[in-house]
Amino acid sequence: MNDTATQPIFLKDYQEPHHWVRDVHLTFLLAPTATRVRSRITFVPNPQNPGDLELNGEDLRLLSVAVNGNDVPYEVTDTGLTIPAHALGEGDITFEAEVEIAPQENTALEGLYMSNGMYCTQCEAEGFRKITYYPDRPDVMGVFTVRIESDLPVLLSNGNPTQKGAGWAEWHDPWPKPAYLFALVAGDLVNHADTFTTKSGKAVDLNIWVRPGDEDKCAFGMEALKKSMTWDEDVYGREYDLDIFNIVAVDDFNMGAMENKGLNIFNSSCVLASPETSTDANFERIEGIIAHEYFHNWTGNRITCRDWFQLCLKEGLTVYRDQMFSGDMRSHPVKRIEEVLALRARQFREDNGPLAHPVRPESFVEINNFYTATVYEKGAEVIGMLRRVVGDEAYYKALDLYFDRHDGEAATIEDWLKVFEDTTGRDLAQFKQWYSQSGTPRLSVEETWDDGALTLFFSQETPATPSQTEKKPQVIPITVGLIGPNGDEVVPTTVLEMTEAEQSFTFENLGARPVASILRDFSAPVILNRHIDAPTRAFLLAHDTDPFQKWEMGRMLARDTLVAMIVDGTPPAATYLDAIRDVVVDDDLDPAFRALVLGLPSEDDIAQKLVDEGHTPDPQAIHDNRNELRRIRTDHLADILPALFDSMKTGAFVPDAEGSGKRSLRLAVLSMLTLIDGGAAARAAFAAADNMTEQAGSLRSLLLADMGQDALVAFEKQWKHDRLVMDKWFGMQVAYASPEKTAQIAQTLTQHPDFTMKNPNRFRAVFGALAGNHAGFHHESGAGYALLAKHLIELDKLNPQTAARMASAFETWRRYDPTRQDKMRAELARIGATKGLSRDMTEMVTRMLG
Ligand code: PHE
Ligand code: ZN
Repeated sequence: MNDTATQPIFLKDYQEPHHWVRDVHLTFLLAPTATRVRSRITFVPNPQNPGDLELNGEDLRLLSVAVNGNDVPYEVTDTGLTIPAHALGEGDITFEAEVEIAPQENTALEGLYMSNGMYCTQCEAEGFRKITYYPDRPDVMGVFTVRIESDLPVLLSNGNPTQKGAGWAEWHDPWPKPAYLFALVAGDLVNHADTFTTKSGKAVDLNIWVRPGDEDKCAFGMEALKKSMTWDEDVYGREYDLDIFNIVAVDDFNMGAMENKGLNIFNSSCVLASPETSTDANFERIEGIIAHEYFHNWTGNRITCRDWFQLCLKEGLTVYRDQMFSGDMRSHPVKRIEEVLALRARQFREDNGPLAHPVRPESFVEINNFYTATVYEKGAEVIGMLRRVVGDEAYYKALDLYFDRHDGEAATIEDWLKVFEDTTGRDLAQFKQWYSQSGTPRLSVEETWDDGALTLFFSQETPATPSQTEKKPQVIPITVGLIGPNGDEVVPTTVLEMTEAEQSFTFENLGARPVASILRDFSAPVILNRHIDAPTRAFLLAHDTDPFQKWEMGRMLARDTLVAMIVDGTPPAATYLDAIRDVVVDDDLDPAFRALVLGLPSEDDIAQKLVDEGHTPDPQAIHDNRNELRRIRTDHLADILPALFDSMKTGAFVPDAEGSGKRSLRLAVLSMLTLIDGGAAARAAFAAADNMTEQAGSLRSLLLADMGQDALVAFEKQWKHDRLVMDKWFGMQVAYASPEKTAQIAQTLTQHPDFTMKNPNRFRAVFGALAGNHAGFHHESGAGYALLAKHLIELDKLNPQTAARMASAFETWRRYDPTRQDKMRAELARIGATKGLSRDMTEMVTRMLG
């Protein structure tokens, strides 16, 4: 890696380009190892910033260049092509070039590549420069016309189809767009077709394109797409703007999916669905991702980002929108709890370690490393807070203004906040710190009761994070409600807006002392420190009207129980066990909610909590105590489990909220039953399963009890032809392995004939599961660390983007004891010392060791 490649770039250095683009004509002559790309681009000089014509380009074989039809002087480097200003003449410029690329050899899956004989592209963030010379930056937007020549039957690009003939097709996208939204697909594909009529009466053709054989797995995705289109019209007033909307499923893809204009490309795991092969969680995720990519059409495509530092402008907002959509389609409380679980598991973990960065980073070496939980999930939380602070009505007014004012533009976070300031008259200067300050605020609360008045004293503090030692107080919307001693709500939810480091709020004229329910609906992404006793928690678990807080109290009871077991061997109290039992038997509660209450904090969560309390987490002790608590709870509930298991049986599989809720409770119960019945119920459920939720859920129960061998064999035999299902097979046996066997099982799986480093889903199935098996990955032998490091080094040569993302498994290394720290640091150093390491991986390792 040379020095310039690892130099950071800074938000503060942003400059407009020397040239804008008007239109782009591309012709692709597709061939696996020698694709020709001809370009004709009209450039318009930028009077604000005159200079050379600067084009990015990487791994391109340049065949010809001309400006206005003539030869010109130019300079080509590893990263681009420059034509000096003096050679450009006056006025608009017609630039023409031809390059050759080799999609077949592209294992990084960035730019134009091949997957199972199909050509496809991935250009976000900076992949277009691997297709041809171009100003590959999101503020440069052009109107694209694309001609594809190939014998393959299906040839797709962005926008609307214009003409086609034998061996060729042309597409025109009337909406100016940055290069990262460019897409091309060519393959032997079949489509699941439908149509949608927009509110204003425009008919849109919809297609999901898949490999032959997968046609029967498209119906659910298509319904999700139509629901998304309707929802965006109803809730945000946004209609679709082309004659056609295409989705393509590809097996080899680095991320979940991509919002290319009019031609979304999906990891097949995020679109293909059938009851036999997909779990309820898969269905829910597919619905959410289809919505996410569709919603990008307005938040991302019609209004894009000025530069990559503004990534949260499109991602935070689009995640927020897909979360609201999923809540509307399913259950808001359940969805909110799932969001918080994911936020804590991924974003809080990131924010508390060496990879912490602001929602809008101020510098980066490789932008691919910033598609993070902080940018996405915390970015969405910030929008939720903004909405809470200004209110629903002002939120939608501000959004209308945003779309009016910035349609067709490449915008910034300043533009975004300005529409809120202009609609509400508020000053959002302090609120803006949510975009610039990294770290998770710790919010502490104490309370006093004085003659009918309850006062809550809040204080906030954000711990130092890399390159940010001084932290300022944030604007924290704190939702509070009060529950009277008889369990009735006496003060409904109100939003307290905290802006100071310390601030108190008083509720007056109260009869008897109520119990406060604080941070309802998880109104801010903070860690709340509140010392209340177990009976009070149990009281809120029983009576809180806010479903999130109700769940949270059960979770806090479980967490405190586990911490006490680990730290000083205190056995679980009856308060906790009885409280859980009351919830589980309460048939008035949604089964999905009851299943969530039964869930225990993850081992990683417990480790983080122990660190927060000044302890050094011992992964094996966490694992053993958590299992011990599972056993104790099972004994406590043993008499009700069999009947509950039976009563949650569902009929014909429908992947809706109701069915999935019942199945999740049924399977949570099954994993307990398996601890006491020798695996009989799980084996029977596995054998009888007619849907993947039940099949994978019963397999999981067996694996967790170390009784899964026969089921694994049967599962492989049944599904060896199905890549997506086999990913589950690879993943589950590592995810649920006992600590001392985890690394060995993962290692053995890499020898399996169906294991391949070239398919990111398969690599993630094994190694994501290894990293996610806390006690297994952190086993004292260090075998987990060594195995992951070895494979990341190998993967980095093929696919730096996916390798670097997965390296974050090491981000928590400072949490553990000196022996584990030494081992993890040594593996990081070993990765870092690898010759020819990618820029992506170099940056990750440097930050983690930094
Ligand atoms: N922009 C995509 C999304 O959020 C994610 C993505 C990023 C996909 C980079 C591929 C590459 O929907
Ligand atoms: Zn997105």
